[in-house]
Amino acid sequence: MHRMRFVGGVALLTVAMIGCGATTPSHAADQLIPSEPTLVEYADPAKVRGLTTATVTDGDSGERTVHIAYPVLADAPRLTERLRAVVTERLDRFTATATRPPGPDGRARPELNVDWRLPAAGEQVVGVRLGVGELTQSGWRESRTTVWYDRVEGRAVDSPGLLSGGPALASLAGLVRAELAGRGPGVDAAAVRADARLFDSLAFNRHGGLVVEFDDYQVAAGSLGRVAVAVPAGRTAGLLSPTGLRAQAAAVRAGRPPGSPPTAESIRETIEAAAAGRPAARSTRAGSVDCAAVTCVALTFDDGPGPATGELLDALAAGGARATFFVTGSNAVARPDLLGRMSREGHLVANHTWSHRDLASLPTDRAAHQLTRAQEAIGQATGQAPTLARAPYGSADAGVAEAARGLGLALVGWDVDALDARDRDPRAVARRAVAGTRPGSIILMHDVHRSAVEAVPEILRRLSAQGYAFVTVPELFGPAGTRAGETYRSGPAGTRAGETYRSGPAGTRAGETYRSGPTAAARS
Ligand code: NI
Repeated sequence: MHRMRFVGGVALLTVAMIGCGATTPSHAADQLIPSEPTLVEYADPAKVRGLTTATVTDGDSGERTVHIAYPVLADAPRLTERLRAVVTERLDRFTATATRPPGPDGRARPELNVDWRLPAAGEQVVGVRLGVGELTQSGWRESRTTVWYDRVEGRAVDSPGLLSGGPALASLAGLVRAELAGRGPGVDAAAVRADARLFDSLAFNRHGGLVVEFDDYQVAAGSLGRVAVAVPAGRTAGLLSPTGLRAQAAAVRAGRPPGSPPTAESIRETIEAAAAGRPAARSTRAGSVDCAAVTCVALTFDDGPGPATGELLDALAAGGARATFFVTGSNAVARPDLLGRMSREGHLVANHTWSHRDLASLPTDRAAHQLTRAQEAIGQATGQAPTLARAPYGSADAGVAEAARGLGLALVGWDVDALDARDRDPRAVARRAVAGTRPGSIILMHDVHRSAVEAVPEILRRLSAQGYAFVTVPELFGPAGTRAGETYRSGPAGTRAGETYRSGPAGTRAGETYRSGPTAAARS
């Protein structure tokens, strides 16, 4: 727990109900669980004023893998407090019980992954649904918890607070039991009792129907995936509290016709359409610094953008440095403005999956799905499809490489870890980064960690003094480029140590005359 840090980060999503990390539903599950009317349409977090996210992360160099993101609303500190309490409790439980799960090769690590969505975001009420996935000794399982914030009353309430009281909970349990009774032998309707713990994830569909979501194994075998029940609006009369009525109104107001899930073709079209309206990002053009002649280093920042990312961009601009940002898709859709700024200022925005799952623990199609959803989110924000990805926790196997190759993505590792999650001392982070750097190095940092952001001016100062130019990863590889599906941990050894060059805006932006091979080719 000491190594965990609560920091600003980001996140969110707009697409389908079955999220990243969800168990692939079986055919039987498709029949049992229609997407309507239990489909909840999520609000676009980029449109919520004052929204940033908090990120808790661990595992790039550890035994366990933890990635937790949740939203922070500037005007709702009590919501933040409640969400923090919920995730802290989950993290503590995971930390206390997680042991290495058995695997065919014993390499799977216990994993905790928490992502979030907004089932409603109106003037009066905001809902936050946390999707929690855990890989433990008993396998992968998912649970859902939805917390509501009532701006009128100025308080955060757990889902049962949407109900008018104990009798309403009993009535709802009866309605849900009756509905589940028709679902078939895989579902245990009798398991539904008037127990608030079973009703900790309540939201509304676009018709105002109350959607009750259960955790894996609560009322069915886990292999069924998400089990949910929708109680039509006409039958919720008298069941809802004032907060519940506000939440219902907000969901109905926000409801729009549901879109179909993205396909590879629709993603490509989206990216092309976005690109057509914007100038090509400078960041995808190599050659502005010739790393065969200049001593280069690539700063890379993972897991963001976060609350301090703007500050980081200021520091990079002041130091004449460009960097590569491996963002999660979940965060990208929450702060597309920051991705746009990265791109405009010459940085490269690259893929760090949708919700930071350990890709090597997933079947290849699920790993590809994680990468694809992030491609779409980043493409929409920047007008450029990434050609580089970094596997969360650096965890990639042959299946991950295959998925990356299929999407035209080269995999980027690192040879210097600044260990910014380990402590809060920016001087220590800067010291490690500088001490480990060789010509062609790729330095791992996280812009969701304030220690990293605060270390950057010192890193720029000291490495500049040694003659380093700060370039994007494609520039590090120059015209030779990188190949989709291959993994790169540092640049080619052709850089010339000892030459003294000053990096600077003029130098790094000059001569943007040609594209790097892989960047141009992979999506053309
Ligand atoms: Ni990461």
